[in-house]
Amino acid sequence: MSHDGLILGIESSCDETAAAIVRGGRELLSSVVASQIPTHSPYGGVVPELASREHLRSLLPVARAALEKAGLTYAELDAIAVTSGPGLAGALLTGLSFAKALAWALEKPLIAVNHIEGHIHAVLLEQRQRGIEIASPVLALVVSGGHTHLYLAELQDDGWRYENIGHTRDDAAGEAFDKVAKLLGLGYPGGPVIDRLAKFGDPRAVKFTFAQLKHEARHEPKRGGKIDGDRKRFDFSYSGIKTAVLRYVELNAMFEAIEERRRALLRIEKPSDEDFQRLCDRQTLDLIASFQAAMVGDLTRRALAACQEYGAQTLLVTGGVAANSALRESLEAQAPRAGVQVHFPSRAMSTDNAAMIAAAAYSRWRLGHFASLKLTAEANLPLQ
Ligand code: KG4
Ligand code: ZN
Repeated sequence: MSHDGLILGIESSCDETAAAIVRGGRELLSSVVASQIPTHSPYGGVVPELASREHLRSLLPVARAALEKAGLTYAELDAIAVTSGPGLAGALLTGLSFAKALAWALEKPLIAVNHIEGHIHAVLLEQRQRGIEIASPVLALVVSGGHTHLYLAELQDDGWRYENIGHTRDDAAGEAFDKVAKLLGLGYPGGPVIDRLAKFGDPRAVKFTFAQLKHEARHEPKRGGKIDGDRKRFDFSYSGIKTAVLRYVELNAMFEAIEERRRALLRIEKPSDEDFQRLCDRQTLDLIASFQAAMVGDLTRRALAACQEYGAQTLLVTGGVAANSALRESLEAQAPRAGVQVHFPSRAMSTDNAAMIAAAAYSRWRLGHFASLKLTAEANLPLQ
């Protein structure tokens, strides 16, 4: 075994098929992502069966492309790392079967990685590349299409340990962006479109009351974790704001215009910012801007309140919603005032990719913590 830790990562938990090679948990040699957006967008969301089929088609070419870009052969790899959960069961299974077959045929170790841990390592990988030290205690906010989680993260001798101190009680933040975009006829995925359009509207135009986003931080007795005694949990809830947007649309009789916009966008192969803007009236742009401002305000307040409660020096923000420009601006402005250093991944590393999987696998490779070929996909795998 070489001492480089050349790891091929494979990611197939949702609607991107990805492969990447990372050396030593810090040097990104290649990262290839095949997006399935064109497959799913006519349905306004991910269709699990179609996702599995697309992964089957793309896994081999994507892995070959990652090797080619890195100028490596399969034989030179030290290990194969793969997302084993959480995610869509069928989608996870395709990547897992592919990774197992590779590991078996090449006689290389197989490493199982939790997708949420992967997102956290997307930030850590880029910070290591830049030689930036992360100050402890560390809090990680993972905000994506499937997750809105807060973790205390701690580097111990045998790798990173995580403790969940909050999660969404209903919709994930990215899910709220996607549902609101779908409701407004803007297509899938919703986050990037809302992000692009929000700057043309007035974020104060529609008032979303605090009750629609309310879930007070609550105290919960210690449950065997490392959190001392009785400290606060910080939960999120985003189904109320989605319903509030629906009510606004109903009250303002916006459905006809929405349907027209939806049909017009379907006729354009790759709608530009101008297309989206042209197809949205002022009221719609104001609604979009107000929705985003409410989401960003809530995520910012809760994350910083949790940092204060747990004395966190560093906040890592990661997952697809971490690509949101308003969220970045808000936390970059407010975290330093609260004495917290905030780090985001680059936009490409915020959404699903395999570099984060290969990076997260490194400490397990060093310690020889390998998975058996009996490894199975776990759709609800928790992060511990
Ligand atoms: O991490 P990710 O690629 O997949 C999951 O693990 O879920 O996150 C995808 C989610 C989608 O809900 C998408 O709408 C959201 O991230 N997203 C954004 C932005 N870019 C992606 N949300 C808000 N603003 C963005 N710029
Ligand atoms: Zn993800």
